Amino acid sequence: MKPTPRVPGAPARQSCTPAVPFIDLARSQKPIEKTLEAAARNVLRAGRFVRGPVYQTFTQRFARYCQTNHCVGLANGTDALYLALRALEIGPGDEIITSPFTFFATAETIAAAGAKPVFADINPATWTIDPAAIRQRLSVKTKAILPVHIFGNPADMDAVLDIARRRELFVIEDACQAHGALYKGKKTGSLGDAGCFSFYPTKNLGACGDAGGLVTNNKEIADRVWRLADHGSREKYSHLEVGINSRLDDLQAAILNVKLDHLDQWNNQRREAAAAYRQLLKNISGIVLPQETPGGRAVYHVFSITTKRRDALRQHLGQRQIAAQVYYPTPLHLLPALKNLGHKPGSFPVSEKLAEEILALPLFPGITNKEIERVCGAIGEFFSN
Ligand SMILES: Cc1ncc(COP(=O)(O)O)c(C=O)c1O
Repeated sequence: MKPTPRVPGAPARQSCTPAVPFIDLARSQKPIEKTLEAAARNVLRAGRFVRGPVYQTFTQRFARYCQTNHCVGLANGTDALYLALRALEIGPGDEIITSPFTFFATAETIAAAGAKPVFADINPATWTIDPAAIRQRLSVKTKAILPVHIFGNPADMDAVLDIARRRELFVIEDACQAHGALYKGKKTGSLGDAGCFSFYPTKNLGACGDAGGLVTNNKEIADRVWRLADHGSREKYSHLEVGINSRLDDLQAAILNVKLDHLDQWNNQRREAAAAYRQLLKNISGIVLPQETPGGRAVYHVFSITTKRRDALRQHLGQRQIAAQVYYPTPLHLLPALKNLGHKPGSFPVSEKLAEEILALPLFPGITNKEIERVCGAIGEFFSN
């Protein structure tokens, strides 16, 4: 096969391929490509594409994996959050306490359900929601707490659950980045009333497109989410309430089913890569390493460091063809979409400082020690100048 001609003026391909990519899905997918292809082919041949037998198999297996009784497969993680709120009858007049340091969907779905996102700042060491800050933000309107297991690191769930129990609040876990993480031996997603997962391709468990799921031990919640995700109907053309269309399809379920067998191994590889980074970076002054929540076992969806010289370091790494990313450059309370909440710079100082200093380093299953050494060597070189 002839190579595709280069578009005039476009850079040569090699120069755009980083020496150390931020993420390389092919490394984990290549060894199981044949199994993935066979699983997808079986769905094509069976011709059952939506909530069919492969959907059933995957959702049952994922519920078991999460140590829960039920899993509803959905179109994405955003819908999992939105439908959890809807199933718990959360809407106008209600306040939901969550972290300002997360992906936008966490607060977006609260607003989409008609409720008010109320932010509580994060713990400066673990970057998860600070229970002391939650207590300060409670009001008579508070209906639920929505902790985020950010970057795969579990939130301080004992404290969150204790606050919720005392005030009779729901707990919805945003576990979109934390498939397989543990908190005191329990899987994230299984600790609250509902756990919400994204299976976006780059997630620890990722489909070949958008996909998501909600896990719970509460049958009523599972049934309601199942119904809401199918236009509010249990039986065809009998619509009991206004819902949405958010059904996980069997092709994605087939991919996820194959990948679920490898999730623990991939999470272990992520943890090993994080440990290697810690070892090689521990003596470099000028950076701070991430801390795991006490009692937690993180699955490192992302491995981030902080430094006051973040932008210069990112540029330095870029010049050495090392891809580093910023998650998240703006905390949610300062985003234009949520300006109606009336927050200003200074409202949540821990999140704001973190957004200025955080930098995510390359980390994915299959990253080599050589690549990690190359990244750390470049960081060491930067701070020795
Ligand atoms: C913390 C968090 N919450 C929610 C979502 C939304 O998931 P999805 O992209 O599948 O809708 C994501 C995905 O990036 C996420 O990282």
